[in-house]
Amino acid sequence: MTDASFTIVPLSPAVGAEIRGIDLARDLDQAEIAAIKQAWHRHLVLLFRDQILSPARLVAFSRSFGDLDIAPPNENGQRFVPDYPEILVISNVIENGIAIGSLGAGEAAWHTDMSYLERPPLGSALFALEVPASGGETGFANMYRALETLPAALRSEIEGKAIKHDSSTNSAGYLREGAQAVDDVTCSPGARHLIIRIHSETGRPALYLGRRANAYVDGLPLARSEALLDALWSHATGPEMTWHHRWKPGDLVLWDNRCVVHRRAAFDPALRRIMHRTQIASQNDL
Ligand code: SIN
Repeated sequence: MTDASFTIVPLSPAVGAEIRGIDLARDLDQAEIAAIKQAWHRHLVLLFRDQILSPARLVAFSRSFGDLDIAPPNENGQRFVPDYPEILVISNVIENGIAIGSLGAGEAAWHTDMSYLERPPLGSALFALEVPASGGETGFANMYRALETLPAALRSEIEGKAIKHDSSTNSAGYLREGAQAVDDVTCSPGARHLIIRIHSETGRPALYLGRRANAYVDGLPLARSEALLDALWSHATGPEMTWHHRWKPGDLVLWDNRCVVHRRAAFDPALRRIMHRTQIASQNDL
């Protein structure tokens, strides 16, 4: 499909498209931003290859989609892009004995970003600076499709119900700075959100699951909540919902937290992976 200034190439039947022929390091005009947004709403995840983005240009591009949240601190409570508090460094690299970023080299389990907040970011942009030749792929799953294909019995069970989204650990399982380990998920800290979420811009309903670890379906007996969450996650992350991206330096991926979940595969901890992530703030849509 061709737009006035770029080409859109779908990457899988489920989710994702590559946008070709646009340089994100320059100021985009309103027509280009509107066309990118339209493609984003249609494909949910957009890939832009061969980009050269300084922290300032990454922030400027991300702001095309709304205000940015300040990045959460990494596991040792620090932020590592001087002058750019909007940028979260995701990295396994250790310098002078200190991790320069978050999430290490292990798997980051399926999740949507920061759903433990009352107002989680509506989208995220992730830019690859250094990546291993293999490992560390990021998978995305389409939560509109997951809801549309949900067996009727499961769908009726989740109507009107909410999940409590735990804030104590991150998607790599690390305890957040200052948090206590959770031993009873029914009273873990974190926000509560309806499981069926209406997307604030497309108006389409999607599953909003957050993250499996320490989640709880509010008001259910614990065993029923656990079984229901397992069934929802198993359905929602099946191969017919997903696409997995193998990174190259210079790739920028923009995803919509309102209607996709993502996961990062583990990689060899001896290899370097350095990514910069921005978080586009909620627009009162949750
Ligand atoms: C994330 O979960 O936001 C990071 C994904 C990645 O490192 O690929």
